Amino acid sequence: MSKNVVLGVSGGIACYKALDIVSRLKKKGINVYVIMTQSATEFVAPLSFQSLSQNYVVVDMFEDPKTWEVEHISLAEKADVFVIAPATANVIGKIANGIADDMLTTTVMATKAPVLIAPAMNTNMYENKIVQRNIEFLRSIGYHFVEPESGRLACGAVGKGKLAEPEKIVEYIEMLLYKEKDLTGKNILITAGPTREDIDPVRFITNRSTGKMGYAIARAARDRGANVTLITGPTNINPPSFIDIVNVYSAEDMYRAVSERFDSCDVLVMSAAVADYRPKDRSDIKIKKSDDDLKIELTRNKDILFEIKDRKTHQVVIGFAAETNDVLENAQKKIKKKNLDFIVANDVSQKDSGFGTDTNTIKIIDKFGNIKDYPNMSKDDVAHTILDLLVK
Ligand code: CTP
Repeated sequence: MSKNVVLGVSGGIACYKALDIVSRLKKKGINVYVIMTQSATEFVAPLSFQSLSQNYVVVDMFEDPKTWEVEHISLAEKADVFVIAPATANVIGKIANGIADDMLTTTVMATKAPVLIAPAMNTNMYENKIVQRNIEFLRSIGYHFVEPESGRLACGAVGKGKLAEPEKIVEYIEMLLYKEKDLTGKNILITAGPTREDIDPVRFITNRSTGKMGYAIARAARDRGANVTLITGPTNINPPSFIDIVNVYSAEDMYRAVSERFDSCDVLVMSAAVADYRPKDRSDIKIKKSDDDLKIELTRNKDILFEIKDRKTHQVVIGFAAETNDVLENAQKKIKKKNLDFIVANDVSQKDSGFGTDTNTIKIIDKFGNIKDYPNMSKDDVAHTILDLLVK
């Protein structure tokens, strides 16, 4: 059943960014109901929110109800998550002090859903002790906050107060919408993306991995309550918010990053496409062309999973096997050789599976030889499928 988010929009220049939040939530199949304060309507017309949310936008408490439900009570009950973005100092102050004098503050007072507040205001206002006291008080009684960012504000000042990026706010909403926190307290280490092996200062060897699969697992584990550390090679996609990110470059860097953190993790998911070889000699200066052929000698990188296999105590270790042929046989060999609990195998020669795609067709093989076949799924669904098996 699709989820319901009630989005309260209060008056500030960042109101236009709330349109992007609505659009991102709708694309994820989430119903959005917008409540605007009167001053928010001075910045963006309710019609814009209505067109994007495809729901009637509520502003005034005393207009004729559009349905025979009492509007503020109905929306308060409908909400799976209640978000206020942008939230002005005024709205935060009212909520913290129990003032309910318009549709937004009345509805938020009546809801039992988790409330997420994304403040946006001038830096001096944000740093004002009264505003900070109100935020601290609301946090202490369970309200969630996405902190504003620093930058150039609409008033010309430079400092903290910019509304957090819509993408980040939506990620927090998804975290609150996911109710099964079955990985709470678990430390999950995930690797993702390719590695780069330098030939000289301007050239390197890499592979086609984009990091999408590993990032999806990191987001899914975070939404299920885990403490996630994502060790990522260079990618062109935005890393998930609200997790620890460790950026690495080469296979050697990735080995060190995993090795340092392995003993304290409960689960290691190696979805990175680690280069097996690197150029034997990295030239410090750019290699110049000549009329002859050029030979680059390669030497083996450490196999990270193989290196740490004897340090396994309580950890569950999950490997990936990207194959173009003999998928099952190759995957089974890797489980044994690398002492894995299970391996996720995919045929990267198929066009809707593997590098750069948004979907994957996988088989999961465990150390007892059980094989599970799955249909083509989005990488987000693949991520949850892997975690379901892990939890079991
Ligand atoms: N892996 C690793 N260290 C490496 C290479 C791979 O830990 N130097 C991990 C990958 O992250 C993956 C698993 O090992 O979880 C299998 O990777 P894959 O590249 O498919 O297999 P390889 O063992 O490298 O074998 P081959 O390249 O011959 O298929």
